[in-house]
Formats: sequence, C-alpha cells, structure tokens
Amino acid sequence: MKRLCCGILMSVLFLTGCSSLKVLDPKGTVAELQLNLFQISIAIMLLVFFIVFSMFVYFTWKYRETPERRGFTPSYVKGNKKMEVTWTVIPILLLTILAVPTVKGTFSLAHSDEKSENPLEIEVTGHQYWWEVHYPDQDITLTNEAYIPVDQPVVFHLKSDDVIHSFWVPKLGGKKDLIPGKNNTLTLNASEEGVYKGQCAELCGASHSFMRFKIHAVGENQFNQWKDKKSKEKAPENLTPAAEKGKKIFISKCLSCHAVSPAERSEGPNLAGFSDKERIGNVVKNTDENVEKWIKDPSSFKPDINMPGFPDLTEEDLHALSEYLSRLEE
Ligand code: CUA
Repeated sequence: MKRLCCGILMSVLFLTGCSSLKVLDPKGTVAELQLNLFQISIAIMLLVFFIVFSMFVYFTWKYRETPERRGFTPSYVKGNKKMEVTWTVIPILLLTILAVPTVKGTFSLAHSDEKSENPLEIEVTGHQYWWEVHYPDQDITLTNEAYIPVDQPVVFHLKSDDVIHSFWVPKLGGKKDLIPGKNNTLTLNASEEGVYKGQCAELCGASHSFMRFKIHAVGENQFNQWKDKKSKEKAPENLTPAAEKGKKIFISKCLSCHAVSPAERSEGPNLAGFSDKERIGNVVKNTDENVEKWIKDPSSFKPDINMPGFPDLTEEDLHALSEYLSRLEE
C-alpha cells in the first residue's frame, strides 16, 4: 500500500512539478476569461457529481439486502411523469447556464482581433523545431522569443512552414494551431510585466518538446526602447582574428540559412543575440564546446532537425565559428 501511494505521489509530482509552464495562473485578460469559464463549468459539474453520487450511495445503502428483505421482489412501476420531467428539465437548465457564458466568451475571443484597437501585429511561423517571430511594421525578426508591451492587445498571425504546430502561452491564454497554408490569428493581452513561457502544444515530430519559447511582457516605454535598439542592431564588427576567420566560414557555410541581424529574415533560425541565449536550440547549455559539437552533428542533440551536420570542419574551423557566434550579442 505504502509503495502504491509513493508511486502515485511520484507520478503526480512528475506530471505536474517538472513543468514550469503554469496553467490556471492568468496574467492577461484572455487567460482570465478562460479561467472564469473553466471555473463555472467545474462548479456545475461538481454540483451534479455530488448530488448524483450522494443519491447513489444513499439508495445503495437504504435498499441493501437484509435478512428481512431476502427474496423480496419489487413491484413493477410503469412511468412516472413527475420524475421524468424533473430529470429532463434539470439538465436542460444546467446546460443552458453553462452554454450562455461559454458561447458568449468563445465568440468574443474568436473576434477579438477585429475588435481590438491599435493592436501590435506579430507574425509567428512554426518550423520543425523552432519559432520565427517577425514584427512586420518594425522589420524585426527573432527566434523562439517575443517582446510585447503590457496592456496592449497583440495579434499573433500564426503560420506554419511544414506541419501543424500549436502556439500556447498558458499564462496569457489558450492555444491555437498553426496550420500550413492557413493564417490563424490569436489575440492576447498581458496585464502584468514578466516573462511568460510558451510551448508547442501539438505533437509535430521527434523534437516537438524542444519547441519552447518565451514572451517578455514589458512596459510601453521599455518596449519602444527595445524596438528602436533592435531595429538598429547590426552584425558585429571589429572582430578578433579568430572571429574574423569564423565569419568567413559562417558566410560560406551558414549564411544561406541563418541571418545574424534582427533586420534580416532567413530560412533557418535568426542567430542575432545568439551568445545571450541560455541554450542552443532550446536543448543544451550554450557553451563553446557544445556549439562546436552542435555544428558537427546537430541531430545528436535535436532529433529530426533540418540543419545538416558539418563533420568535415576541422577543430580550428569549429573554434573560429564558435568564437564568431559568441560575438553575436544583443
Ligand atoms: Cu511544433 Cu510541436
């Protein structure tokens, strides 16, 4: 028994504790509305559950077999209008109570991108296995992160480059799919400054779990400063000889897929600010050693990745490349 309890406890911890994605902790208007709907539904369902279950327990006990009742045959009862009306009307009432706020809330959320005034537009494209975040008005492109101002509606235009992904930032609101050939929109609004974690919520391949991202919600002034700084950010200059050599290799081997300044778009992840990323491709710690291993064989870290390996590069070339990448600062 003790072992069973331990097992259950461990699996509960495993399923909930490890995830830093916190659900039911709204930090924006959309997530708040969704939590309210969730609470109403749970309250009604719990009410029904307790009434039905109490009656079940009570009647099971009341009409249990006793020595006096052994051999008892109940009389045949055919129909009871009152009871039939009761158990038809009550569910209709409950479903109506449940339906009104749900339909109202769902429709208001579905059309919130048309209603919101002066929204910030962001294009999010899902790739196996990373996110391209593009600000069309500011011409800024980021990888696996977005900056948004608080208290301003943000319309995310969701697209996919390959398979179906799903954009989910639990603290800001529910998920929406990114479907190839379709432009879905999701309007979110952060009411508090903070960093909100997101995750692809649709099994999209072997490295689906690495499709994480962060949304930085900042004050309006801070957001404008960030925007100005980003749009001026250029590829690094004044490089050390090693980094200069790395740049040359980068241009010949990597530039066809990777851009190095936020003003450019590329087929693969934009590597601007790479040295400030905590992890490479959301997988391993961003150290020189790991960068070199990654370039040699990325699929050993991230299965099914589209980036090819470069096993022919020499140790010296790899050092030079990682030296150059370490100069890509924010
Ligand atoms: Cu993309 Cu899961």
